[in-house]
Amino acid sequence: MIGTMLTGRLRKTLLTSLSATLMLASALGTAHAQTTSNTTLLVDIDHRPATSLDGDWHTIVDPYSTGLFNFHHEVKPDGYFMNAKQQPNGGPIEYNFAISPTLKVPGDWNTQRSDLFYYEGVLWYEKDFKYSPKPNTRTFIHFGAANYRSYVWVNTKKVCQHEGGFTPFDCDVTGVVKDGDNFVVVAVDNTRLADGVPTLQTDWWNYGGLTRDVSLVDVPEQFIDDYDLHLSRTNHDLIEGYVHVENAAHGETVTVSIPELNATARATVGTGDRAAISLPVKSVSLWSPENPKLYKVNIDADSESSSDKLEDDMGFRTIETRGTQILLNGKPIFLRGVAIHAEAPYRTGRAYSEKDVDTLLGWAKDLGCNYVRLAHYPHDQRMTRATDRLGILVWSEIPDYWALQFDNPAVLAKSKQQLGEMIRRDRDKASIILWSVANETPVTDARNKYLTTMANLARTLDPTRLVTAALLVRTQKTAAGSHKVVDDPLGQALDVLGTNEYIGWYEQKPAGADTTTWDIRYQKPVIMSEFGAAARAGHHGPATERWTEEYQADVYKHQIPMFNRIPQLRGTSAWVLMDFRSPMRTLPSLQDNFNRKGLVSDQGDKKQAFYVLQKAYKDKAVGKPD
Ligand code: GCU
Repeated sequence: MIGTMLTGRLRKTLLTSLSATLMLASALGTAHAQTTSNTTLLVDIDHRPATSLDGDWHTIVDPYSTGLFNFHHEVKPDGYFMNAKQQPNGGPIEYNFAISPTLKVPGDWNTQRSDLFYYEGVLWYEKDFKYSPKPNTRTFIHFGAANYRSYVWVNTKKVCQHEGGFTPFDCDVTGVVKDGDNFVVVAVDNTRLADGVPTLQTDWWNYGGLTRDVSLVDVPEQFIDDYDLHLSRTNHDLIEGYVHVENAAHGETVTVSIPELNATARATVGTGDRAAISLPVKSVSLWSPENPKLYKVNIDADSESSSDKLEDDMGFRTIETRGTQILLNGKPIFLRGVAIHAEAPYRTGRAYSEKDVDTLLGWAKDLGCNYVRLAHYPHDQRMTRATDRLGILVWSEIPDYWALQFDNPAVLAKSKQQLGEMIRRDRDKASIILWSVANETPVTDARNKYLTTMANLARTLDPTRLVTAALLVRTQKTAAGSHKVVDDPLGQALDVLGTNEYIGWYEQKPAGADTTTWDIRYQKPVIMSEFGAAARAGHHGPATERWTEEYQADVYKHQIPMFNRIPQLRGTSAWVLMDFRSPMRTLPSLQDNFNRKGLVSDQGDKKQAFYVLQKAYKDKAVGKPD
């Protein structure tokens, strides 16, 4: 992707809306400071009994943050979070959630109401709910994700706030919920920030709102909130890891059992509220694309005063590298894949439903994929549950995308938080083999330092998976064509190198791939993490004419032989499975706010290139595992 520069006028409007949002954040930060950091994160949430708060929520669109600021920009004590009702002799209440329009949750606001299609700013959500407190119980409101910053009040009390549009968070409401009628108010602000993750520019639509499930979850006072259970790389008859019990009682014991394997291990919770697990198993059926075997795993935490139970569906496999090979269960593998954005097929908007997931992964399977790159942010958990069931290997990524403020420690903290949340939520997914810490970031000292820190953090948080990033590649013009050099210094910190190239679209003609040579300066596996071209489905013409299906197919025809000339190539993820919305794509009748590099249109039309790649994948004619 070629860089663009910000115009003077655009910079000015961005700055004014930025100052407004900064005022909002700092005011909300200061006025309600006591609830900033979210201490715990409930995992395996889809296996916990919960009360769904999905459905219709009343909403107020608030471009001026009137719901919080008075006319002198001071935080109002009686903001919209009070959900106040007009009192006969009271002062004027100039909002009323109960009669305000509703929006569906989960769902972005942009595709639910045409007047919100381009909206970026604050939007307030309100939901009434009934609840009856239970003794010795902690109660949380769990958000699957909300884009981009969220501030949450329950019964007028601020309970938490979160930044980051694609990872889950929990708000402890134990102290504020009451028996009977309750209400929750959430201010969601999808304003793009220069010091955000992602930052101001993204080649995807900035869908705002409560984009994933919201639920009320009760857990015992001592509860399981993190665990790592993985097959040992050196002994396939041993599952090892830990279970973390939040607020563990002294002498708390944890039992992990896999009935189908007749295996049980018990351990006492020790330092850091963790119980170290070592579970001998016999003849585990190793998880792989050919055999996506999932086992029922029971995790119990017991103490005199309380017990917590979790069940999970988990596969067991090992993933590692050996030189330039990627080994799954000790055997070399080649990743035949495609990149996917969380854009909903047909209805468009942020994807979240089983139907969205089944359609997208159905097309990937039909394409002959054994791997998908979930770009450029963690997708809904339904996606990674499905890849576990369907046997599709996964590259999962946080939106360290393009030109972040790499010299800003506050931004690094945001990336670290999102990485931690991504890994924590999906640590139990056998299908995920790669954590990606970045995409197409400029090679600077600050960036190298920043992303090396991120890569090392990923390895610390999860030493059982591989760490990668999608790198830009240096191109040297040669008499014959072009010479691609992969020598990005960040490569040192990665286990697997992702390389993005667009020969035939942003550079050269499609046939340029025939004369392109590759020089990879690392003895590591390489994945061609992006390649491709755009075409409007149904737009036909000579293969030399851009935007036609014939042109896009021609690009693919030239790419595949090139891939087979790169000895250490161990995977390919075409850009992209389905056309997706992007504010950067404005060409009338060809783009219309869609990136058209999909192999399938957003309305399900498979383009000619789909069949070119399908044939190559089904014939295993792309790349070699060893
Ligand atoms: C980049 C980028 C994608 C983008 C693509 C494109 O490589 O990573 O997010 O959509 O190029 O230009 O289509």
